[in-house]
Amino acid sequence: MIEVCELSKHHGHLHVLRGINLTVRQGEVAAVIGPSGGGKSTLLRCINGLEKFQAGSVRVGELSLKAGGTKSEQLRALRQRIGMVFQQFHLFPHLTVLENVLSGPLWAQGRTRAEAEPEALTLLERVGMRDKANVRPEQLSGGQQQRVAIARALAVHPEAILFDEPTSALDPRMAGEVLGVMSDLAKAGQTMIVVTHAMSFARRVAHTVHVMHEGTVAESGPPEQIFGAARTEVTRQFLHEAMRH
Ligand SMILES: Nc1ncnc2c1ncn2[C@@H]1O[C@H](COP(=O)(O)OP(=O)(O)O)[C@@H](O)[C@H]1O
Ligand SMILES: [Mg+2]
Repeated sequence: MIEVCELSKHHGHLHVLRGINLTVRQGEVAAVIGPSGGGKSTLLRCINGLEKFQAGSVRVGELSLKAGGTKSEQLRALRQRIGMVFQQFHLFPHLTVLENVLSGPLWAQGRTRAEAEPEALTLLERVGMRDKANVRPEQLSGGQQQRVAIARALAVHPEAILFDEPTSALDPRMAGEVLGVMSDLAKAGQTMIVVTHAMSFARRVAHTVHVMHEGTVAESGPPEQIFGAARTEVTRQFLHEAMRH
């Protein structure tokens, strides 16, 4: 379970997050939508400890982050509990697909290759990339790289996976393949927070949709509310714009 409480973050004099409250229960898929610059990426980066914040708190399971910074031990523990998938994949270019997936289990968790490798291959099977285990990322399409990135995120048995616009760099067919993998994860009960412009995914897969605007959560609710009976002008305006693209 992830609990963000009154989270406030400044970049210089820019107030980027203005008292965010958000809870994601175990097994829940939370979609975060909203206009560019609203603070969506910053929120994800605060949740996995990549950014400090000035007020409020973040709790992931029994680990908590407080304003002003957290001990490096705590941060290391936290990052092992949270997987992250980025728009630009960020695979290790010099490692094969399999070695990418093994990086967390071997380097961060100190597991043995004999124990971790069969599971890594199973994860690659799950994202449809088993037959590419021994190639390097540069030989793969963007959609394939992103599916490997998802397998890599899963390999450490994360409490939750945070996705930051995972399909924004992909053409529609490849985006569809990646969203298909993410839907399967959702069905399997993986807790995730997904920042996305893929409105049909948010509508179909998310349990809760949060609309972020200018550093606040303007509206939260089930997809039927957000897409069918929005309560705020911010949501209506954003969806109106999003549907035109
Ligand atoms: N490292 C940074 N330094 C200064 N301003 C930043 C930095 N990162 C993000 N911002 C600003 O914070 C705001 C929120 O950015 P971001 O979290 O990337 O929004 P989103 O992901 O919703 O597009 C924007 O105004 C952005 O320009
Ligand atoms: Mg962003």
